[in-house]
Amino acid sequence: MLFFVVLFLFNSRPAFQCQFTPEIIPYIPTIYGITPTYARLAQKADLTRLSQTLMLVKNFHWIVIEDSSTKTKLVENLLKESMLKYTHLNVKTHKLKHSTASGVEQRNVALNWLREHLLKIHDTKGVVYFMDDDNTYSLKVFDEMRKIKKVGVWPVGIVGGMRVEMPLVTDGKVSGFNAVWKPFRPFPIDMAGFAINATLFIDHPEAKFSRKVQSGYQESEILKYVVTKEELEPLAENCTKVYVWHTRTQTPSILNPKKLKHPPLPDGHIEV
Ligand SMILES: *[C@@H]1O[C@H](CO)[C@@H](O)[C@H](O)[C@H]1NC(C)=O
Ligand SMILES: *[C@@H]1O[C@H](CO)[C@@H](O)[C@H](O)[C@H]1NC(C)=O
Repeated sequence: MLFFVVLFLFNSRPAFQCQFTPEIIPYIPTIYGITPTYARLAQKADLTRLSQTLMLVKNFHWIVIEDSSTKTKLVENLLKESMLKYTHLNVKTHKLKHSTASGVEQRNVALNWLREHLLKIHDTKGVVYFMDDDNTYSLKVFDEMRKIKKVGVWPVGIVGGMRVEMPLVTDGKVSGFNAVWKPFRPFPIDMAGFAINATLFIDHPEAKFSRKVQSGYQESEILKYVVTKEELEPLAENCTKVYVWHTRTQTPSILNPKKLKHPPLPDGHIEV
């Protein structure tokens, strides 16, 4: 009898086990995407496409800077409706005579905003990515850049007159670049081909873009403050995968209604 009692006691298990095993939420660094934009016919189309990619990216903060003396309703409404975490800034470019660079003032304003923000939230970790409003981004590029320690690099599709422009990797280290357009640049890579640890913008408060450099040198200009070629971290499977494309939206041609024999109905009240 005693034997059976003992057997019963040892055999009895709690009827149900506790289901509340604490879920481990891995830390994923915030990505700060910096996107200069300017008014043009395809602006809303480009920003719509980009914002709807970004809606699928976790822990993403979009910094959009208009090249304009005031913020436009078009961009304001698009950002509000996007459901994204965003910061809307504006600064009008006053171009120097010989400068063709675009986005210089806008990216610098964004970097200054970011520095203040990081210090205010007492978290300087994160990733800074300079994004054109008409490029094409695979979600994979965002997964890659969260791995960076200082500066990560990867290939960019259809840019610089090439199918793919990329860092060359030997034994897991960047040993050169395949660029054919101005290959003598310190960092012959496109803006879409790298991201920078946000902490470095706190460590280097002087880091900024400049209108004084030749065309094609903006990437080298910002990178020179924060990294050396030897320190670049090759991502996207040692720079063998393309996760971003330097696509360009063709400038649309619209017929001048005044020159048409049968002018169309007025459509100025419709945002396009
Ligand atoms: C950025 O640098 C900081 C400080 O060195 C580090 O803690 C962090 O892991 C780095 N990477 C990212 C993605 O924040
Ligand atoms: C990159 O190359 C290095 C050295 O050959 C290798 O150890 C590493 O596993 C590679 N990384 C990936 C993600 O393929």
